[in-house]
Amino acid sequence: MNYRHAFHAGNHGDCLKHALLVALIEALRRKDAPFAVADLHAGRGRYDLAGEEAARTGEWRSGIGRLLGDPPPALADYVALVRRLGLYPGSPAIARALLRPQDRLMLNEKHPEEYAALAAWADGDRRITLRCGDAYALRGVVPPAGLRRGLILFDPPYESPDEHDRVAAALHAAHRAAPTFMLAVWYPVKHLAPVRALRDALRGLPKRVDAALHLRPPFDPARLNGSGLLVVNAPWRYDEQARAILEALALRLAEDPGAGIHLEAGHD
Ligand SMILES: C[S@@+](CC[C@H](N)C(=O)[O-])C[C@H]1O[C@@H](n2cnc3c(N)ncnc32)[C@H](O)[C@@H]1O
Repeated sequence: MNYRHAFHAGNHGDCLKHALLVALIEALRRKDAPFAVADLHAGRGRYDLAGEEAARTGEWRSGIGRLLGDPPPALADYVALVRRLGLYPGSPAIARALLRPQDRLMLNEKHPEEYAALAAWADGDRRITLRCGDAYALRGVVPPAGLRRGLILFDPPYESPDEHDRVAAALHAAHRAAPTFMLAVWYPVKHLAPVRALRDALRGLPKRVDAALHLRPPFDPARLNGSGLLVVNAPWRYDEQARAILEALALRLAEDPGAGIHLEAGHD
């Protein structure tokens, strides 16, 4: 449990994850019926890019820092939301901003200090329930709020070598418990072997759209060369939206002529 997202907030991985998250929640908002979002690795909710941690890595400068001025149309909603919420909103802040009065947000975070900050930030919002626990102990958590539609986000830190296996098993368990929910899992792209293994482990789940951005060829296992978000039960035409978002991100964030996007839709 060494990972602290404050060092990485607003980096290219956050831009990919959060731009696609906005598209997914906007799809849920198209119907009046209430939805629930469960953010199982919530972090502290929002981050201060002027703070010591963000300054030490400067990662946000080659992420959200490159998108704020005149964003391409596919990123307009995401960037407008970031501007409204302040630098830099985490996934809980983004989800909360898109919630309507009838919707619910469940936030889970295991680290006690991160959880304390999250709980203080969420205080008083009756649409939000909080849990300080292990995202892999899903029993009783999924489906959130007893609702039949919504989104469950898995955003683990991938600190341990078995995290890809654990998160794949958790997605299968979540799909069994909440088969009508969208599921989304963020993954790092360092080199391709673990990414391929994760994709293979998730075959069999319905309406998958896997969207990844490679800032440079994914060959150096010591560097975060890109990242992806794999969605299960993806909404109608989300694949087209994801492609436009990936292309816009590649235009602004690519680091190398070998940069590229990966978009794969599958339904077994
Ligand atoms: C990548 S960060 C989350 C960022 C956040 N989702 C966002 O986009 O703003 C991963 C978080 O998961 C937490 N974490 C690590 N292992 C966990 C576990 N087993 N269950 C729940 N949270 C965990 C870490 O403390 C960290 O805050």
